[in-house]
Amino acid sequence: MVRRSVDECRILDLPKICDPRGNLTFIEGERHIPFDIRRVYYLYDVPGGSDRGSHAHRDLHQFVVAMSGSFDVELDDGRSKKRFHLNRSYYGLYICPMMWRQLDNFSSGAVCMVLASELYSENDYVRDYKAFLDLVGRQE
Ligand code: TYD
Repeated sequence: MVRRSVDECRILDLPKICDPRGNLTFIEGERHIPFDIRRVYYLYDVPGGSDRGSHAHRDLHQFVVAMSGSFDVELDDGRSKKRFHLNRSYYGLYICPMMWRQLDNFSSGAVCMVLASELYSENDYVRDYKAFLDLVGRQE
C-alpha cells in the first residue's frame, strides 16, 4: 500500500451561486470532491473547549465543511502535520484515508458537516495513535 501524505489533503472551493435573496452552494460527488458520497453526518451543539476526532480511517475519504461558525482540523500522516481553519460554507477540506485528525477550537454554534465515501463501519477506524504509527510505518 502507498503511504499517504498530508499534502494530498487540501481545501477545495465549491460552486457559489450569489443571489441577493441568499447564496447557494452545491456539491456533486466525483465532480466537486474526489469521491462518491455514501454518507453525510454533522457535528453540532459542540461545547466550548471540546475536541472531536482523534482517530484515522483505513479506507474512508471525507470532505469537511463548516456549515456555520468555525473550527480547526489538524491532520497528521505520521510524519507531518497540517492545521486548517474552516469558517465558510463555500469551501471544505478533503481528507484522504490514513490521516490522523483532530477537530478543535469550535466556535459557539459551529456546525461541521462531513461527507463520507462509505457507510459507517467501526472496522474502518484506527483509534489508537501508536497503532496508527505502526500501520503507516508498514506502508513505507
Ligand atoms: P466518531 O466518529 O468517533 O466521532 P468524532 O470523530 O466526530 O469525534 O463517532 C462517535 C460515535 O458515533 C461512535 O460511537 C460511532 C457513532 N457514529 C455512527 O454510528 N455513525 C456515523 O456515521 C458516525 C460518524 C459515528
